Amino acid sequence: MYRATSFDLTAALSERVKGQAEAIRQIAPYVQMYETGLAPEGRPAGIFLLLGPTGTGKTRTVEALAEVLHGDRKKVLKIDCGEFQLDHEVAKLIGAPPGYLGHRETHPLLTTQALNAAASAGCDLSLVLFDEIEKAAPPLARLLLGVLDKGTVRLGDNSTVNFEKSLVFFTSNLGATEMTKALAPGLGFHASAPPDAARLEGQLRTIGLAAARKRFSPEFFNRIDAVITYQPLDADSLAEIVDQHLAALQQQVRGRLGERSFEIAVSAEARAFLVERGTSPRYGARELKRAIHRELTQPLASLVSSGEVEPGARVVVDAGAGGAGLSLEVEARRRSRAA
Ligand SMILES: Nc1ncnc2c1ncn2[C@@H]1O[C@H](COP(=O)(O)OP(=O)(O)OP(=O)(O)O)[C@@H](O)[C@H]1O
Ligand SMILES: [Mg+2]
Repeated sequence: MYRATSFDLTAALSERVKGQAEAIRQIAPYVQMYETGLAPEGRPAGIFLLLGPTGTGKTRTVEALAEVLHGDRKKVLKIDCGEFQLDHEVAKLIGAPPGYLGHRETHPLLTTQALNAAASAGCDLSLVLFDEIEKAAPPLARLLLGVLDKGTVRLGDNSTVNFEKSLVFFTSNLGATEMTKALAPGLGFHASAPPDAARLEGQLRTIGLAAARKRFSPEFFNRIDAVITYQPLDADSLAEIVDQHLAALQQQVRGRLGERSFEIAVSAEARAFLVERGTSPRYGARELKRAIHRELTQPLASLVSSGEVEPGARVVVDAGAGGAGLSLEVEARRRSRAA
């Protein structure tokens, strides 16, 4: 039973988050410790700091966990720390004390209800995500220290919120600039040899750890269970992510159009074109959704709206001549009987 669960979780996460096996390997055991009742008490079930280049799957990992545990990627209590850069803004998180100006109007974000809303009938483990933690004002950092240390937060109205049934994720761009430099040494020159992946991995991890140690107090840093540096996505992972997006698009067409739906067949060359247009060492897979939207979804929509795509047809997508775009060709459904 235990083994089966552990295998399923890792497999389900790997299906969704590509090229970050190390991150999954580090996170999955904490879910299992919680599910088997072996997580320590008096603190969150797991505390993670996710570092690494932009668009490599940090936020996606938390969404994927929500999908796997709760059947809904939005079941995450997400706090954008960038919204709490000024000291007084922290009241939006915990609410103002009674009697203070604005007490009635503040609906604190970090409440027991909010935590419960990020759990589900099948699983009571809430996922809490503090995005861009390096932007947090000192009062927020102090408050977070309480979460890490005791697993609780005291709200403005003096009630207590308990985080023992949650996994806490911090994401940060700490060290990202330096990582980008490591990823593209001698920008503008052609590297004579492809960078050694294992060495680069170690290098990024060292940059991330050093930046985190410098930014956070030892009390904060030492309470984090795992500091995970996400790696730049390799070509295979990028191709798999394109496939994920294309499968999602097909799914959407099926779901929305029902009987009138059609099939989208994307050639290997067209997929390669999308990888080239939608991904980069600098932005990872962050621009991919937009590229697919621009290069494929929009032309597809105009074909459909002009009535060129019959129900049951097959739209064949290929790389256009000259690498300028994609070419879309409609193949009508083969008739079962000759007319
Ligand atoms: N490893 C991955 N596996 C699958 N999809 C990915 C991966 N990395 C990025 N993506 C795709 O790119 C989008 C952006 O990735 P994500 O939001 O996870 O980036 P991030 O690492 O959190 O970056 P940032 O530091 O800018 O917040 C995701 O929604 C997903 O579609
Ligand atoms: Mg993110």
